Amino acid sequence: MVQFNLPKHSKIKKGNYFKFEKSSKNLKKINIYRWNPEEGVNPRIDTYEVDMDNCGPMVLDTLIKIKNEIDSSLTFRRSCREGVCGSCAMNIDGSNTLACIKSSNEIKGDINIYPLPHMPVIKDLVPNLKQLYQQYQSVEPWMQTNNKKSNETEGLQTIEDRSKLDGLYECIMCACCATSCPSYWWNGDKYLGPAVLLQAYRWIIDSRDEERQKRLKKVADEMKLFRCHTIMNCTNACPKGLNPAKAIGSIKKMLVTEKSS
Ligand code: SF4
Ligand code: SF4
Ligand code: FES
Repeated sequence: MVQFNLPKHSKIKKGNYFKFEKSSKNLKKINIYRWNPEEGVNPRIDTYEVDMDNCGPMVLDTLIKIKNEIDSSLTFRRSCREGVCGSCAMNIDGSNTLACIKSSNEIKGDINIYPLPHMPVIKDLVPNLKQLYQQYQSVEPWMQTNNKKSNETEGLQTIEDRSKLDGLYECIMCACCATSCPSYWWNGDKYLGPAVLLQAYRWIIDSRDEERQKRLKKVADEMKLFRCHTIMNCTNACPKGLNPAKAIGSIKKMLVTEKSS
């Protein structure tokens, strides 16, 4: 009989409990995924009791309070604290989102926090996004023009052409969409995923860029693009309210309606 075994260190164990020793009328339990590769043991869920009356409103404020006041070993990424850098992306209460713009009050009961799913973990809540950034690099996310004059003067656009970038330029590459996409979970080494494809589309439709055909050709691939089955998890997950599934659909449509070579 075939036996399926979980990979080493994949079973999550019960971890430490950090009790709030004073009295509080507004205690919340925060359950956090912990894993340190240097310890060589399974991941665990640590629970922290936090006095929410003395804590900022966002989940990131809670994490910072825990790190500052309860357990300095807790590891997570953050930078801007206002939803523009994308570094605090994690799975909170079952959904991928940005910890700095997710209100703790919105979550009823305990707050459960895990790293972004289906990514290798570096430590605790920090996923390894190397593959995603290599894929991002592969779509050459910068303006490309062949003519010297356009490199020396301001790249003007009509108001109409500029508006085509709305809903695309706001992407902060947080990876909430890619890590909620089943196709990316199973074929992430080949399929570019919603974050990178939205970025690819952003450059394909920029009227100032002169490499549209090259860009279309680059993504016109059974695995890189057509693994998207329009399940829409990506669009539901985006904390910036963007629609990567629509961008992917637009690339597919362009490939049918335009010559890409
Ligand atoms: S489309 Fe949204 S979820 Fe995806 S990387 Fe961009 S900002 Fe993040
Ligand atoms: S619509 Fe495409 S990219 Fe978005 S979650 Fe579904 S398969 Fe993934
Ligand atoms: S800290 Fe920058 S997006 Fe959350």
